[in-house]
Amino acid sequence: MLVLEESLLLLFPRGVLSVLALVGLLAVGKILARSLWVAVGALRTYVWARLWRKNLVQTYGKWAVVTGSTDGIGESYAKELAKKGMNILLVSRNMEKLQRVAREIRSQYGVETDIVQADFALGRAVYGNIAKGLKGKDIGILVNNVGMLVTPRLFEKLTEDDIWGYVNVNVASVLAMTRLVLPEMLRRKRGAIVNISSLAAHLPLAYFQVYAATKAFVSSFSRALQQEYQPSGLTIQCVEPGAVSTNMTSFDKDIHTPGLFTATPGSFAVSALATLGHSNRTSGYWAHGMQLAMWMSLPESFVLKSNKAMFESKDKKSK
Ligand SMILES: NC(=O)c1ccc[n+]([C@@H]2O[C@H](COP(=O)([O-])OP(=O)(O)OC[C@H]3O[C@@H](n4cnc5c(N)ncnc54)[C@H](OP(=O)(O)O)[C@@H]3O)[C@@H](O)[C@H]2O)c1
Repeated sequence: MLVLEESLLLLFPRGVLSVLALVGLLAVGKILARSLWVAVGALRTYVWARLWRKNLVQTYGKWAVVTGSTDGIGESYAKELAKKGMNILLVSRNMEKLQRVAREIRSQYGVETDIVQADFALGRAVYGNIAKGLKGKDIGILVNNVGMLVTPRLFEKLTEDDIWGYVNVNVASVLAMTRLVLPEMLRRKRGAIVNISSLAAHLPLAYFQVYAATKAFVSSFSRALQQEYQPSGLTIQCVEPGAVSTNMTSFDKDIHTPGLFTATPGSFAVSALATLGHSNRTSGYWAHGMQLAMWMSLPESFVLKSNKAMFESKDKKSK
């Protein structure tokens, strides 16, 4: 130690060394404080939230609306909400699947259900019918879950339908559904809007360029709404999952197979719903939280390049 100090003193005056030492201490302190903050946040989100469960009906209202609720994360959210005693309004595009999920929910959980058939890709035209379905219901929770993902490809390979689908399904549905439920929630001074975004919201991802950008939109919008409506008693939550084994991820066996970083839709929904009212912005699932922390601890250019390289090689192999 002494030898090191003496050699440094040969290079720098003592005053400069003291300033460098102070800067080093502050940097280490900042890293420690940030790690502690992340650890406390994770405990609150994933442990405390599981122990301290809210009565969703009393806290938010009797009915929950879930968009894109006939499969994957949306179906699991709908069933988890019903398990907690909420009546469920399912909004999705396929009538047979809607009727099947509604039947299962009624028989398993004994709550009321209603269904609205709507294809969000059609844009503005579908919301009149959805508004009719919402009428007269005490909407406590809206889960803006519906989303689409075109298998990873270069931007030039997306069709016009893909692009408008992304805008209408991933972006416009969140705005239009929020607009439909917000006035009544404000009147009742209670309610929660859960927007399902993605880990992809955190980074501009090559080959998922439009998908990632739509999710960045959802996260940004949710965080602005939190500031606007939290003082009025509403909860606006943004959930940013990593990989979940659903139809959406079936294009890639590695991502789709359940494992440490790929949750099943059921386990994801149980974990994510437990965080409602405890965290306004969360991955919803502990392993996805770890994945995000890992991404954020690495230089962004490295994460972007390795992601691009991975999908470039998958794209080449698929040809
Ligand atoms: N899976 C993941 O790894 C992952 C990761 C991060 C974020 N997310 C987000 O989580 C949400 C749910 O994803 P998921 O993986 O559960 O997807 P999914 O398995 O593909 O299910 C999507 C659901 O939405 C419905 N849907 C799709 N397009 C629709 C449209 N145009 N109009 C009406 N309903 C439509 C589907 O109906 P049909 O049954 O008729 O197809 C299905 O019920 C999405 O917002 C997605 O971006 C997923």
